[in-house]
Formats: sequence, structure tokens, C-alpha cells
Amino acid sequence: MIAKEVVEEVLARTDLSALIGGYVSLKRTGSNQTGSCPFHSERTPSFTVFSASNSFYCFGCGAGGDAITFVRKIENLEYEDAVEFLARRAGIQIRRAPEMFAGKRYDRARLYEMNKDAARFFHGSLYQNTPNSRAALSYLTEKRGLSKAVVTHFGLGYSPAEYDVFFNYMKGKGYTEDELITGFLCGRSERGGLYSSFRNRVMFPIIDLTGNIIAFGGRVMDDSQPKYKNSSDTPVFKKSKNLFAMNFARTACAEQLILCEGYMDVIALHAAGFTNAVATLGTALTEDQARMMTRYTKKVIISYDMDDAGRKAADRAVKMFGDVGLEVKLLKLSGAKDPDEYIKKFGADKFRALLEESRTKFEYYFESILAKHDVTVPQEKIKAINAMCDLISGFYSSAERDVYITEVAKRTDVSSDSIRQDVARLIAKKRNAYKQQETQKIHQTAAGFADKVNADFVKNPAAARAEEAVLGLLLLQIEHRKRAFSSDVALCEEDFCTEFGKKVFAYIREHANEADVSEFLNEAFSADEVGRITHMKIARMQLTDNGDGVFDESVRKLRASVISAQEKNNGMTLSGLSALIDRRKNEK
Ligand code: UTP
Ligand code: MN
Repeated sequence: MIAKEVVEEVLARTDLSALIGGYVSLKRTGSNQTGSCPFHSERTPSFTVFSASNSFYCFGCGAGGDAITFVRKIENLEYEDAVEFLARRAGIQIRRAPEMFAGKRYDRARLYEMNKDAARFFHGSLYQNTPNSRAALSYLTEKRGLSKAVVTHFGLGYSPAEYDVFFNYMKGKGYTEDELITGFLCGRSERGGLYSSFRNRVMFPIIDLTGNIIAFGGRVMDDSQPKYKNSSDTPVFKKSKNLFAMNFARTACAEQLILCEGYMDVIALHAAGFTNAVATLGTALTEDQARMMTRYTKKVIISYDMDDAGRKAADRAVKMFGDVGLEVKLLKLSGAKDPDEYIKKFGADKFRALLEESRTKFEYYFESILAKHDVTVPQEKIKAINAMCDLISGFYSSAERDVYITEVAKRTDVSSDSIRQDVARLIAKKRNAYKQQETQKIHQTAAGFADKVNADFVKNPAAARAEEAVLGLLLLQIEHRKRAFSSDVALCEEDFCTEFGKKVFAYIREHANEADVSEFLNEAFSADEVGRITHMKIARMQLTDNGDGVFDESVRKLRASVISAQEKNNGMTLSGLSALIDRRKNEK
């Protein structure tokens, strides 16, 4: 738990628009600032920073809250890590009490420290005067051709072959067996003994965006299996949410990011000056990773291995980048299996030239369609043209579509007019389908379906809306809170109709006397829930009259709608019953 005073100080010392301005370009509009929401893809900015209330809210996707909520969402951090992130940014020292993970206590700061000590140990082990050490160093420098500077830059290392050298060293540094196991540095054998997880491997530290060492990958130096061993998830590491070398690439990738498959590819690229290269951590690209990239760049160049597996993985990645709104290109390496080998064989200049002429999504699919269908056979040619029209209809810009239409016409020897007509037909069809989908979505949202934060909303929308009005007012003004808990009004949990509403009310009651009741929302609610609560408050803020009269009236409405909802429920059962009785009568 982080002390209240610390949270207060962190919030007080954080300038919200400066913080958000580091991620989103904001424009002043009156007393507020607006920009494009970093949490969903949009063309017109609906993301607003309210300076007066130190909060943000997106009218498009409903994300909202304070500086802590923003950091939780944008940096993918848990509540306490987000506070720590902001504290560090504001130069405030905080010391956190141990937390629990899988039934055991751990101290996050100590796990970071432990990983750092481990990385230092592994790195130092490269330079011991033993045959194994020398072999490891020569594997990296001679066999893989890395300079000592690159080895140092990435903090590469070597884990000794013995079961105990590493953990004895770490124990000597004061780390407990539980900490070593929790951090995946050690394991326990069936017979109960401790062993070092990484043995006789060259080591690749994995570093998060704020510079902490969070995990390791270790590679064998021969052909034995498994080639790599990677840390599993730990309290400080989530494979699916991190990228190798993103800590270096984040400042060099504004224009484009290069995504490769392997640690060694990334290292070779950085060594050759392409410091905008990153890799996933031994798994396929995840949506979290793709979203994270959207915060740093507009365009990703995929440079996966040139084998079947690589091609399949690239197909998936192209789709995923399209979904999150990133421009994507694919690099085709000929004469080498991966970027590492390519650069070694042909040099950095050749690679740079490839980057410049890297193929767009269109060309990539265009060629794979041609590879699938033999266009000299009429039936196949029709199939190919249909597939290409479908592909082209997915492009937003009509100028772009025109260029591709001309290309397809040339390659298939069909007039560009008829191809243009086909594309137009497909676009119309897609637009209708999209409209239908949107209408459906709007109906569903209006009816409260798909409401992940407040699943009960749909059961009684009128009462749920009345509930949000009351909660909004309570959040807004301490006077309303005082009145709500006075004997005149005596608002209580039973007055609320949804579970979420009850929970928010209970929270407000607990914090009723704080000047800003929203200050500790992040401690009690998920980031999405905080967004919803911010919505209730903002909705009220936009109305001019929020005085006592309005409050009393809102409470009256809430109580009335909750009661009428109960009656309606009873009524429905009654009419259902009488219908049943009628049917029985008719059957007789
Ligand atoms: P590669 O086999 O392409 O490895 O796997 P690489 O990094 O290019 O290594 P070299 O060039 O053979 O030395 C790509 C990535 O897949 C993960 C690792 O993250 C690796 O960098 N991987 C691979 C594993 O996690 N485990 C394995 O056994 C193999
Ligand atoms: Mn490789």
C-alpha cells in the first residue's frame, strides 16, 4: 500500500497537461485542451484534458481519470507502479512495503535490484579467466561478430554452467530463495534443492521502458535444445506487454519501427545503426505490443525470418497492425534467412536500401494472390481479380486505390474501368455492412449491452441513468455529500440499482469528507471503471445548474425510478401469468 500523503503529493506535483502532452499533441480550446485519443483510433479529436479538475476524458471511448489513471493505461502499469512512475518523474522518493504474489511476499523494488545484480554478475562472468568464460565471450565477439561496445551496450552476459555458482553469489548479496524463484532466476528441483535457471548460456537482459531489468533470455552456444530459455512472467515481467530493445528504440522510432523475430537480429541492427529495431520475446506479436507501438510510431516495418513460420507470423502481424491503425510494410530479404545474417552478408547500406523500397501491404498481398492463382487459367484469373478488388476496397484513400487499380489492370490484362466498378461495388457493400453494424452497436450501447463496466445498466437504463446523475453530483461537490448523508436525505446503498453504482456510492461515502473525493479512485477501481466514474462527473460539469435543488430532484428521481422499476418487474410477471392462464383456457 502506498500512503495517502504520497498519492496526494504525487498528484499535486504532476502537471497533467504536461504529462499527457508527452504522449499526445494537445491543442488549447478555451480553458481545456484537446487531442487525438491515444486509447482508441479516431479521426476527429475527442480526447479532452480539463485543467480545472485535473482530469482527462475521451468522449469517444470513455477513457478518463487523473494522472494516475492515464499512466496506468498508457504505460500498462498497475496502480502502485503508476504512482511510482509519477513519483520518479516528479523526483519523489517512495519506499513500498512488500506485496503478495502467488501467496508469497515480494518487494518490487528488490526484484528490480535483484535483476540488476544478476545482470552485473552475468556480464562480469564473460570476463572471468576460465575456459567457459572465454568461450562465451568469443561466441559473442568472434562467432556472432559483436564488438565489445555492443556487448556492453546491451549488457550481454554469460551464466556459468554450474548449478550453484550463480545462486550462491546472489544469496551472498542477501536475496532469499523465494525472491530468486519468484524472479525466475532460480528453480527448485523435485528433491527440494535450488538450482540456477540459466546455465551455460549467453544472456540477454530484457529492459522495460523506464530502464529496469525485468527478465532474461539465454541462448545455448551450440546446437542443443532449447536454443533459448526465457524468463516466465514474474511480478515485474509480462512477456506479452514488453518488447526487446524498446527502451533504446523508443527515442529513435518516431518515423518508423523495425520489428524482427530474434534478439540477435535486433542487436545486429542496432550495431549497424538501425536503433529503431525491436523484437517480441519468444512469442507471436500480441495486441498489447501492437498498441504500445502506436504510442511511439506511425509505421512498422516487419523484418521476420524468410521461412514459412516467419511468413505466417508476418501475415498475422500485418493484420494486427492494421487493426490498431499502424501503417505496415514488409521487408523481403533475399539471400539471407534473417536480418542478422543479411547485414553480415551484404552490409548496412544494402539493408538501408531495402528499407527504402520495402513493400507496402498492397504489394505484399498482391504478390501472394498471384502466387496462389495461375492467371493464365480463366477461372483462376477471376478468383485472383476478386481477391485483389477486395484488397483494394480496403484502402481509405481513393488516390491510393486508383494506383492499385491501374496496377491490377496491367497485371491481369483487364480494363481498369471494370476493375474500378468492381471495387466501387465492394466498397458500397462494405459500407452498408459497416452502417448496419454501427447501428446495431449504437442500439446495443443505448440499451446498455456491451457495457463491460456496469453490466446491470441494461436491466433498467432509466434508473441507472438517474443513479449516474446522483453519483455525478456527489463526486462534484462536498456540499452534496454532506446533504446526502444528513438525516434529511439519508441516502443509502439500497437507493442504488446497479452493483457498480452501489460500489461507487460506498466509495464516496468512505471518502465523503475529502475535498477531492476522486483523489483515491485509482486505488479502488480499475482504469476502465475510473473512466466511467469520470464520465459521471464530467457529464454533470457540463450542465450549468448543479445546485441543491438539482441534487434533491435527482435523488427523488432515482428513488422513484428504482421503485417503478420494481413495480414494473412485478407487473411483468403478473401479465406473463395472465397470458399463461389465457392460453390454458384456450387449450381446454
Ligand atoms: P530464432 O531462432 O530466429 O533466433 O528465434 P535468433 O534470435 O535469430 O538467434 P540466432 O540468430 O539463431 O542466434 C527468434 C526468437 O524466438 C525466440 C527468441 O526470442 C528468439 O530470439 N526463441 C527461439 C525462443 O524463445 N526459444 C527458442 O528455443 C527459439
Ligand atoms: Mn537468427
